[in-house]
Amino acid sequence: MSTIRIGVIGFGWMGQAHSRGCRRAPSYFLDRDYEPELVVVSDTVAARRDDAVRSFGFQRAVTDWHEVIDAPDVDVVFVTAPNMLHVEMVEAAAAAGKNVFCEKPVGGTPRQTVVAERAARHAGIITGVGYNYRWAPLVQYAKELIDTGALGTITNYYGRFFSMYGSDPLGLLSWRFLVEQAGHGVSTDILSHSVDLGHYLVGGISKVLGTGETFIKQRPLPTGGGTHYDRGKPGDPTGEVTNEDYIGMMCVFENGARGTFEACRSMVGPESQNSFEVYGTKGSVAWNFEKMNELRVYIAAEHKHTGFTTVYGGDRFPPHGNFVPGSANSIGFEDLICIEDHEFLQSLAAGRQHTPGFTDALRYVSVQDAVLRSWESGHWEDVHSLKED
Ligand SMILES: NC(=O)c1ccc[n+]([C@@H]2O[C@H](COP(=O)([O-])OP(=O)(O)OC[C@H]3O[C@@H](n4cnc5c(N)ncnc54)[C@H](O)[C@@H]3O)[C@@H](O)[C@H]2O)c1
Repeated sequence: MSTIRIGVIGFGWMGQAHSRGCRRAPSYFLDRDYEPELVVVSDTVAARRDDAVRSFGFQRAVTDWHEVIDAPDVDVVFVTAPNMLHVEMVEAAAAAGKNVFCEKPVGGTPRQTVVAERAARHAGIITGVGYNYRWAPLVQYAKELIDTGALGTITNYYGRFFSMYGSDPLGLLSWRFLVEQAGHGVSTDILSHSVDLGHYLVGGISKVLGTGETFIKQRPLPTGGGTHYDRGKPGDPTGEVTNEDYIGMMCVFENGARGTFEACRSMVGPESQNSFEVYGTKGSVAWNFEKMNELRVYIAAEHKHTGFTTVYGGDRFPPHGNFVPGSANSIGFEDLICIEDHEFLQSLAAGRQHTPGFTDALRYVSVQDAVLRSWESGHWEDVHSLKED
């Protein structure tokens, strides 16, 4: 069993989630090929560095992220800093020959993802990307139903990610709302999760027609930090939101299926509605992260004209049973991160390229590039691979 020594850059929501995921994985995945070791974390906030050592078990914490990459006792770097910092960190890790897990979408713009993918490919490092929702056991079951032909030929796909995080105009102007720190808005942030699920379940996309909008144009300025879940007060000084709240697109899949995708962060109502509906000639499935332990299934041969049946998550859908036995005993968001981390560490232990990795991230930003072009042109746009030699 190989020891995998881990460094983390950015110890906010996802840096902490992956640190817990890696630390918890051994007790859920007894039949594994690695031992994780939390070595060093970097964050610019002193309190977070202290938490990492005192409460998460890291051996040390540093201010300068270069020290994580340069550390001789680090095998893999988790990049969980704001999007616009990803590329510089990935390039440095690739140059040092360190494997990288980078949170989605790898950079803040399609161009940055292209640069990161190229650097990683040329360096021959193993990469992973944080498309965690595909690891939900019931999403895996949906894929099995599609791949085994239980739904027949897939004709229609509807993917959306409607999140509450920007629905309150008093939500702080954190890095996510600023083009220079986040890159694009929801097309970079949550649409990328939907595009991952669309590719995973149905396949590649060949052309798109897209549009976008920024509905809330000013937000309170953060004083002393704060994330996209924190709130200002009425009358606080405000600043301009510089990336989009909403993206919608119609698309044609390479296999001929037709699809629609939407992502929005400023809607009132949906809370964390990362969802899909897949329709085929023999049946359909529908899933919504807000009820991630339920999959709605309709197989025409079994339930003609009876409508959808609800299938509950449980230990018959691996690896749900690693976390909790029985049926309808729920798992949650961080369990998906733990599954994701386990799968990535298994790939590292085997020395094989991981999926989803930077190759997948590049495919998704090629779609994002087409939707941004379409928003500007007002016409259908073909998806071209942005891959560079
Ligand atoms: N897969 C998912 O479900 C999911 C969910 C949320 C965020 N994300 C992704 O994770 C990444 C981080 O998002 P988050 O929500 O955790 O953000 P966050 O703001 O909670 O955390 C970012 C952390 O990076 C630190 N940081 C900033 N500049 C730094 C620097 N120069 N060196 C070291 N640390 C620095 C900040 O102090 C902060 O602690 C983003 O790429 C985001 O797209 C993915």
